[in-house]
Amino acid sequence: MPIPIKTPAEIELMRQVCTRAALVLQNLAALVKPGISTLDLDNAARDFMSEAGVESACRHYTVGHLPRFPGYTCISVNETVVHGVPSRKRILQSGDIVTLDVVVRRKSFIGDNARTVLVGDVAPEVATLCKVTEEALYHAIDQARPGNRVHDISHAVERHVRPHNYGIIDQYAGHGVGRGMHEDPQIPNEGAPGTGALLRPGMTLAIEPMIALGTGKLIVAADRWTANTRDGKPSAHYEHTVLVTDNEPEILTRA
Ligand code: MF3
Ligand code: CO
Repeated sequence: MPIPIKTPAEIELMRQVCTRAALVLQNLAALVKPGISTLDLDNAARDFMSEAGVESACRHYTVGHLPRFPGYTCISVNETVVHGVPSRKRILQSGDIVTLDVVVRRKSFIGDNARTVLVGDVAPEVATLCKVTEEALYHAIDQARPGNRVHDISHAVERHVRPHNYGIIDQYAGHGVGRGMHEDPQIPNEGAPGTGALLRPGMTLAIEPMIALGTGKLIVAADRWTANTRDGKPSAHYEHTVLVTDNEPEILTRA
């Protein structure tokens, strides 16, 4: 499938939905504190979405034979890398890290963003994992320029995290986003520079390093969604939806 190039009118709709996705994420992140459950956070996200005039793209999402996703957001604690299912029983504690992944739709267009939030006092090595993963996102975004190729983005992540000996999750990747939650291209978090599809103005890309303190190998839980690291060590995940322009990359998911 060719990579969709958005028209100016579509780009405007992407800007609108992405701004709202960022606002919901910002509001949600502000609620993170020890003692709150991931279901409480998800319920708050539902309310923030309705106030912002957007719908959850996660709620009841399915692909292949997977059960419909039950949450409005994915909320992934510690060893859960992605697709954590909000639960009344999962109560955040000081020392946890929690990834909030907010994907919303408005007027047929989707905005996708995520961030890992630290809960109370987090061990220094875990806080560093988060910091390095967020830095990797910005290095990757800086490669989203016309003339570059998809794996220039991938390589920027790999290059930034490798010296720390972290695990790069290869079972999930970034992706194009627009009318669909997952459009072409796939954007892995490692790869050889100068390879992959050519980037052009008008592409909208969800760039999302997912990086683990230990192994990057995962096990998906019995619920078929929750993806955990095999060694149980924590992982971090930061994501923006970005527009490739003639000039600087434009981060669309800014509140
Ligand atoms: N940002 C996640 C992804 O791109 C959101 C998935 S929504 C869910 O995979 F429904 F699958 F949970
Ligand atoms: Co995504």
